[in-house]
Amino acid sequence: MLVNSKEILLEAKKGHYAIPHFNINNLEWAKYILEEMEHLQKPVILGVSEGACKYMGGFDVIVGMVKGLLKDLSITIPVCLHVDHGTSFETCKKAIDAGFTSVMIDASKLPLEENIRLTKEVVEYAHSRGVTVEAEIGHIGGSEDNITSTSSNARLDECITLVKETNIDSLAPALGSVHGLYKGEPNLDFKTMKEISEHLEVPLVLHGGTGIPEYQIKEAISCGINKININTELQIAWHDAVSKFIAENPNSYDPRKVIGSGEKAIKEKVEEKVNLFMNRLS
Ligand code: 13P
Repeated sequence: MLVNSKEILLEAKKGHYAIPHFNINNLEWAKYILEEMEHLQKPVILGVSEGACKYMGGFDVIVGMVKGLLKDLSITIPVCLHVDHGTSFETCKKAIDAGFTSVMIDASKLPLEENIRLTKEVVEYAHSRGVTVEAEIGHIGGSEDNITSTSSNARLDECITLVKETNIDSLAPALGSVHGLYKGEPNLDFKTMKEISEHLEVPLVLHGGTGIPEYQIKEAISCGINKININTELQIAWHDAVSKFIAENPNSYDPRKVIGSGEKAIKEKVEEKVNLFMNRLS
């Protein structure tokens, strides 16, 4: 069932666990994640970046593909189809019009007033259509979709203002996590994370989930994180499995066999993350 993020994130907040957000890149990615999450009987958020959207052909393709998978694979779990780091009102509108159930408007590079103005515009359009909105404040650094940026941490007062002014459904405060691989141990600001979650009702989102050690993930959840985004880690798991397959089967050219050789690795990674993020559910 395609749902927005409202109920699943509020349930997670009540239960002190985090919903996994996995970025998808193609049909196989979406299929493997959905099959594994159905097997585990847990809700999931499928994230689509602007780059991945372009790669797959557009928002309509993705909505058609995901709806088709839900039907043909008889998926019964709640599935939220979410735009990851939408950078403009137009992107979010296009996704909503195509049938996405949740969007992130990332206006975090703009000054606070402009971030509020743009986020508010998206919230008004989205909420009137039953779609939920995530916003970012501070700036998450690292590399995603070949875009590299430097981080700056969120401030409590700015988080309070953004949430109060915009009526968003979830907030991604940048607190030291980065997209892609970390250089050394991640340095997350757990103190501010806890303060933000104590001052605000909205569920908090942790981006850059790849490479954050288990004990820090647990600490983040105990400080109020209810959604954790994972992208790179699944890509690496898939890449390693496929590279091994190609090395061992140099004459295998059927794309179903080549791409599909990463299925087990993706499913194992998904299960590992579910066990870590949602153990209070089990
Ligand atoms: P990673 O690629 O570091 O897992 O980050 C994913 C993410 O935050 C998507 O928004």
